[in-house]
Amino acid sequence: MTRIKPPVEPFRIKVVEPLRRSSRAEREAALRKAGYNVFGIPAERILIDLLTDSGTSAMSDSQWAGIMRGDESYAGARSFFRFERAVKDLFGFAHVIPTHQGRASERILFETLLQQGDAVPNNIHFDTTRANVEVRNGLAVDLVKDVAYDPDVDLPFKGDMDTAKLDAFLAKNKGRVPIVMLTVTNNSGGGQPVSMANIRAVSAVCRRRKVPFFFDACRFAENAWFIKKREPGYARKSVAAIAREMFSHADGATMSAKKDALVNIGGFIALDDGELASRLKTTLIVGEGFPTYGGLAGRDLEAMAQGLAEVVDEDYLEYRTGHVAYLAGLLDQAGIPYFKPVGGHAVYLLADRFLPHIPRHQYPGWALSVALYREAGIRAVEIGAVMFGKRDPKTGREIYPELEMVRLAIPRRVYTASHLEAVADALAAVLKKRDAVKGFKIVWQTPHLRHFTARLEELK
Ligand code: F0G
Repeated sequence: MTRIKPPVEPFRIKVVEPLRRSSRAEREAALRKAGYNVFGIPAERILIDLLTDSGTSAMSDSQWAGIMRGDESYAGARSFFRFERAVKDLFGFAHVIPTHQGRASERILFETLLQQGDAVPNNIHFDTTRANVEVRNGLAVDLVKDVAYDPDVDLPFKGDMDTAKLDAFLAKNKGRVPIVMLTVTNNSGGGQPVSMANIRAVSAVCRRRKVPFFFDACRFAENAWFIKKREPGYARKSVAAIAREMFSHADGATMSAKKDALVNIGGFIALDDGELASRLKTTLIVGEGFPTYGGLAGRDLEAMAQGLAEVVDEDYLEYRTGHVAYLAGLLDQAGIPYFKPVGGHAVYLLADRFLPHIPRHQYPGWALSVALYREAGIRAVEIGAVMFGKRDPKTGREIYPELEMVRLAIPRRVYTASHLEAVADALAAVLKKRDAVKGFKIVWQTPHLRHFTARLEELK
């Protein structure tokens, strides 16, 4: 077998955070206590935590230095202007509004824009984006190309929106669509990028139909990197220039800085429309804070400004995407099925193929996430029938989402190649004894977002 190599990390380690190994008996007890829900396990009991890439980045020495330099003035802090400059340099929009995280940006935007019965198209909504539309009685529609749901098709830009569907939708719902969103990369569809050609086409449809076009820009730098590597004509452009070109086609963006601004907390809205910006700021003041800090400390603004400069560094992005692809390569060698091609921030395992003996109603994705924790103390998140299953209001039967996956999200600059090797080894060990892995039943759940708190029992 050819030896695949991990990329060399373009940083060295100055501060370390100890990880604690646990015994199988301790893990068994932790699972029992948590109702077999990995969200309920204290992080101290986890060896490698791949629950999310959000807010889990390691900050650089320059970001920590920025934390010391933070200006904590209530209004007009120096740190705000540095942050505003950093966002304007990359995003190019005239107005920058800080928020405490991505969903706060979404809440403020939709609270201001949405009327009851309005619809918001997206390639695929992330859950909080969908929830922020739906709690206002809006309709969140996913208009990604059909191929996005096929886990075997290896295409460079599986996050692309279906612009024919978008155009038809806008024609049919004239006056009812206050905004079109495009999520880069497409987290709910395997972390797949959107091409510049598609961004241009979405923009053209929105301009023609006179509907504002916003990015959900959480992972914009990873998206720009894929454009550079995969789309003809971009190989010699810098990632920063590609990002600027992406945003030049839109009217604004919401951002969770917990991803591609390399910070543990933070977010923003950036946009061109001054009248809308002043309405958003009014909502901001009511719920988040004054417009030069928006629910954050001055030091957080400093860390974001610095993180935005670091995330478009091409050595970093080559390492970042190579690191995630390295894990996928190890899984290929072990014969472990995952969604193709590998995404920018995560590997999505195909749990129904991994555990073909567990029927859908016994939650194979959930079973796999428990088995992985039980085997090696590794935490991943089920993205399948527990997270997205819905009860049919008429028949009471469960309707399952298209894909049954387990996401291994990779925090930025946190784990080494040997951590990833440990993850692949643990999955290979589970694969070997997969016939012994059992299904689950839910014994307690909440009506919404049940996966966070549900309690389950292992079937005999
Ligand atoms: N949009 C996308 C595409 C996201 O992935 C997330 C968060 C948000 C918006 C909301 O941002 O967490 O700062 O409020 N995704 C995390 C995840 C939680 O694990 O994928 P937030």
